[in-house]
Amino acid sequence: MTEQNAAPDADPCPTGMQLTPFDPEFRECPYAVLAKLRAAEPVHRDRQFDRVVLTRRADIEAVLADRSLAADPRKSRPGSFVRMAQIVDETYEPMMLNTDDPEHKRMRTLVAQAFNLRSVEAMRPRIAAVAGELLDGLAGRDRFDLIEAFAGPLPTIVIAEMLGVDPAEQKDFKRWSDALVNCLNPRRSPEQNAALAWSRENLGAFFRRIIAERRARRGSDLISALVAAEEGGEVLTEKEIVNTANLLLAAGNVTTTDLLGNAALALLRHPEQMARLRARPDLARNAIEEVLRYDPPVISTLRIAPEERSIGGVTVAPGQTIDFVILGAGHDPEVHADPERFDIERADTTHSAFGGGAHYCLGAPLARAEAQVAIPLLLARFPRLRLDPDHPPTRKVAPPFNGPSTLPVRVD
Ligand code: HEM
Repeated sequence: MTEQNAAPDADPCPTGMQLTPFDPEFRECPYAVLAKLRAAEPVHRDRQFDRVVLTRRADIEAVLADRSLAADPRKSRPGSFVRMAQIVDETYEPMMLNTDDPEHKRMRTLVAQAFNLRSVEAMRPRIAAVAGELLDGLAGRDRFDLIEAFAGPLPTIVIAEMLGVDPAEQKDFKRWSDALVNCLNPRRSPEQNAALAWSRENLGAFFRRIIAERRARRGSDLISALVAAEEGGEVLTEKEIVNTANLLLAAGNVTTTDLLGNAALALLRHPEQMARLRARPDLARNAIEEVLRYDPPVISTLRIAPEERSIGGVTVAPGQTIDFVILGAGHDPEVHADPERFDIERADTTHSAFGGGAHYCLGAPLARAEAQVAIPLLLARFPRLRLDPDHPPTRKVAPPFNGPSTLPVRVD
């Protein structure tokens, strides 16, 4: 991302594909494109993709909190953007993220029992140990790809340990969960489709086996807790536990990798901020919140209007998609002074990185814990960490995710 203040100009308002990472301009600097859109049409009717696109934080927060909106893509009208972002056919099986009440409330209540703040906070020492082992593995190297060597493996190992995956099986587990990266990408290639089917089949068989084992003998892991979760006589079925475990991988791994990658990249591009964090690791919490505002890992989240309504004077038709551009919310000049400035000591880092309302990210405490622990350890281990001038970073094209696909660094 480049530092620039995008002033509105006479260009036509960006729309459709121009608001996705398939467009090179958006991919390299989405914030300039979104500034142009916000200035011209903060509530934008995108005719190419049948969606209403929101980029102002006030609209995003108000409408996200509206629990009458739907998240199940089967409630959208044919051709609506939600249906492009998810392949909805007769084999479609919604994950919790794509269900509505009462089903969503029942699932979320049970899953939240297992995936609670206490179990996440207890992971902090283990997160530090895993990060330390990954950094140990880089000893003697003068350059490496930070995504491949650190930001990629860390969340997968942490969630695998939380789920109780045997260390001997973690390599297979990593390959299967890595292949989930394109599960929300509407423009998958045939190869990516095949990899996704392969990953789902293997993960499904794997989790069914673990569930049977944990039913016979409970452990202290997350699968045991999902098996044990009970509320008012309701429990999770085997299929629901498999789907939930898949959701934790799909929703948690790529996003946390992107948070680590975006944090490292922002610091590498702002050496004075990196120096400040090195000198004051106690700023890590605020620094991570600033990264979540400045360059968040998820581009947008979607809802469906169940009936006609008006947002900012724009009519949203029943079944039409409302697209909340998270990247836009954190750069709204109405909320943040000088939004393009990266400042780890910024007083107001409010952001919408974890969505909101009924579907607010269940994994937010885990993602925050991983980044708050891992980034200071990375800086402490490599005092001369810097971008590799011969190999610039590249951005991924896997919507709705936003992060570097490669981040080559030098440490010599
Ligand atoms: C920085 C990392 C992460 C980001 C930016 C992120 C972002 C999001 C967003 C935007 C949503 C949708 C919210 C909405 O539509 O209102 C979501 C939902 C969800 N996330 Fe995360 N997430 C992250 C990490 C994680 C992790 C580590 C886990 C678990 C291991 C996780 C589990 C979930 C689940 C289960 C949901 C669905 C909640 C529901 O439908 O009730 N996320 N996340």
